[in-house]
Amino acid sequence: MTSSNVRTIGFIGAGNMPQSILGGMVKGGYPTTAIMASNPSRPKLDMLEEKYGIYTSQDNHEIAGKADVIVLSVKPQLMRDVCADLAAHVPDLDEKLIITIAAGLRFERYYEYLGNNITLVRVMPNTPSLVGEGVSGLVADDKATQADRDFVTQVFNYVGLTLWLDNEDAIDVLGAVAGSGPAYFFEFMHGLQRAAEDLGFDAEQARAMVQQTAFGAARMAMESDLSLVDLRKQVTSKGGSTAKGIEVYQNAQLSDISKRAVGAAVTRNQEMAKLF
Ligand SMILES: NC(=O)c1ccc[n+]([C@@H]2O[C@H](COP(=O)([O-])OP(=O)(O)OC[C@H]3O[C@@H](n4cnc5c(N)ncnc54)[C@H](OP(=O)(O)O)[C@@H]3O)[C@@H](O)[C@H]2O)c1
Repeated sequence: MTSSNVRTIGFIGAGNMPQSILGGMVKGGYPTTAIMASNPSRPKLDMLEEKYGIYTSQDNHEIAGKADVIVLSVKPQLMRDVCADLAAHVPDLDEKLIITIAAGLRFERYYEYLGNNITLVRVMPNTPSLVGEGVSGLVADDKATQADRDFVTQVFNYVGLTLWLDNEDAIDVLGAVAGSGPAYFFEFMHGLQRAAEDLGFDAEQARAMVQQTAFGAARMAMESDLSLVDLRKQVTSKGGSTAKGIEVYQNAQLSDISKRAVGAAVTRNQEMAKLF
């Protein structure tokens, strides 16, 4: 990291997701003197000061005023009030880069709350960011420069994979695949665990077996140049036991079920975007 890609970054809201992101930044070597956070109640701030040595305040205006980059990280339903308050008290918002990680809210809402001259990047991280293995979808508005994009990429690379998207509709799709995806995988893994338990395994062993298998399969997929179909074929000998198991999934049209699940989640994301 060169000093040119260090900017003072201030998180407005210090809940789970910003804690993961700033924790990843510190772990990755981002200077702690360039990270700040605000939150209405003190305990999270005290913990962040103690754990990471960053500057914190209960005053959003102070953090937003001091930061070059503001990360709006409050719940979507609070965004209107928090933004209106910043717009009224922070004079140079248009000079700063604003990142929002709130689910659902579209660009037009932020222009309404903060004015049309802000520079905005929307980021949709997912929960595995908590363990540094997230997927973040990113969309920038026309005012964001390449340097702004590079900065945001750097920040979210600290907690996993970053994917730049062309438009906000793609964020809804990313949310339905990567945002909801951990739940789909947990559901599937739970089914496998239950199957092993029904055949005599205790819960602890069954879970350990399933989660290590999922981890191993994910690593193989990541490290191989083969397509997922070819990887699947590699562990499916003709006439063997895996072929019999796969036949059951294919007869139940697992791919089609996944399409329907993602479609349902995209529709819900679009509906929720209209709520705020
Ligand atoms: N968690 C995820 O997996 C995930 C994934 C994608 C996107 N996101 C987005 O990330 C954002 C934050 O989510 P989260 O999971 O971190 O939520 P969270 O853990 O519930 O934290 C929300 C934080 O906002 C603080 N807050 C409340 N009012 C505030 C105000 N007026 N000014 C500043 N801070 C205020 C709360 O403080 P108190 O505790 O003192 O009330 C709390 O610490 C949301 O918009 C969410 O959509 C989260």
